[in-house]
Amino acid sequence: PTVIFQLPDGTERKVTAASGTVLMQAAVSNGVQGIVAECGGNASCATCHVYVDAARSELVGGPNDVEDEMLDFTAAERRPTSRLSCQVELSDALDGLVVHVPEEQV
Ligand code: FES
Repeated sequence: PTVIFQLPDGTERKVTAASGTVLMQAAVSNGVQGIVAECGGNASCATCHVYVDAARSELVGGPNDVEDEMLDFTAAERRPTSRLSCQVELSDALDGLVVHVPEEQV
């Protein structure tokens, strides 16, 4: 699937990754700015925070309990569409997904 990252400066980055790839990994391995991912994907740093585009957020689904707690520690404000990108697995159903990268991660 292809994911479109909308960056805080208004630019966007299109990234294509295999189904099953974790969203954070797709961003980091393609050098998408603004996804820090300090803990390497363990849902314990909240520096991989993204806002899933509202149109698809239901399809992406919500956080589990561990992620939900961690989302209270994001640097940028938490919103209903907030997710930790290391906890989102890409699938073909999510092709064309738009995610917004917040202004700050730490
Ligand atoms: Fe640390 Fe996602 S990479 S919470």
